[in-house]
Amino acid sequence: MPGQSCILPYSGHDKGSEDTFWGQIPMALALVPWESGHARQISAIDSLPASPLAIGSGLASPAGGSPRAREAALDALAQQCHACRSCSLALGRQRVVLSRGNPQARLMLIGEAPGAQEDELGQPFVGRSGQLLDQLLAAAGLDSHQDAYIANAVKCRPPGNRKPTTLELAACRPWLQQQIALVQPQVLVLVGATALQAVLGLKGPISQLRGQWQSLGGRACMPIFHPAYLLRNGSIEPGRPRDLTRADLVAVREHLLASR
Ligand code: URA
Repeated sequence: MPGQSCILPYSGHDKGSEDTFWGQIPMALALVPWESGHARQISAIDSLPASPLAIGSGLASPAGGSPRAREAALDALAQQCHACRSCSLALGRQRVVLSRGNPQARLMLIGEAPGAQEDELGQPFVGRSGQLLDQLLAAAGLDSHQDAYIANAVKCRPPGNRKPTTLELAACRPWLQQQIALVQPQVLVLVGATALQAVLGLKGPISQLRGQWQSLGGRACMPIFHPAYLLRNGSIEPGRPRDLTRADLVAVREHLLASR
């Protein structure tokens, strides 16, 4: 296992550049879909300075704005998101699934959408895919609780774990944009093809795009296989998908260490 960092925590679908797809995340004008369908401005985002970088130790922390201000802004965002009725997924959900992990982390992982266990518990990646994701992160020297902030492209469970539709992804995009704007991660890991498409607009096969650094407004992005795919392709032989994912996550950790 490379370096020090944090060790294995604990151990719950594939459910899935252009810098201009989202463009620069609008810090001063974050628009949130609201129940009425009208856009509503979140002013807390305005108060956070743009740049992160520089950490004391480990891979966590940084950013302008105090951690407390950031967490308060994320709490406000969560409250609003929990009331979201922007698409029909709101009708079937038990819980809105926003995030887990460390909002001060320099690393953010973005998956597709909650599954059954996530819907029940209100946290992303807590089912079998999540357990495997945590193990893969740990094998690369990254702790999913301390070193990463984890979210999904879509915050409510699609029925039967189907892939979210383009409309659902679009309805949810402002929430994710605001999470990124508030957390200000240095590196985004795009977990699976849907996240890659949702965030960067890239539709190519994940088997070709994984492991290739991309950029979102200057922020480094690493696409990886979705752990649900890895659960179905369990070989740990060198060069197989699991091993490739471990290598991709090692590259992510090295990037974070090099840019401290
Ligand atoms: N798959 C995802 O993409 N996200 C989750 O939270 C769980 C499974």
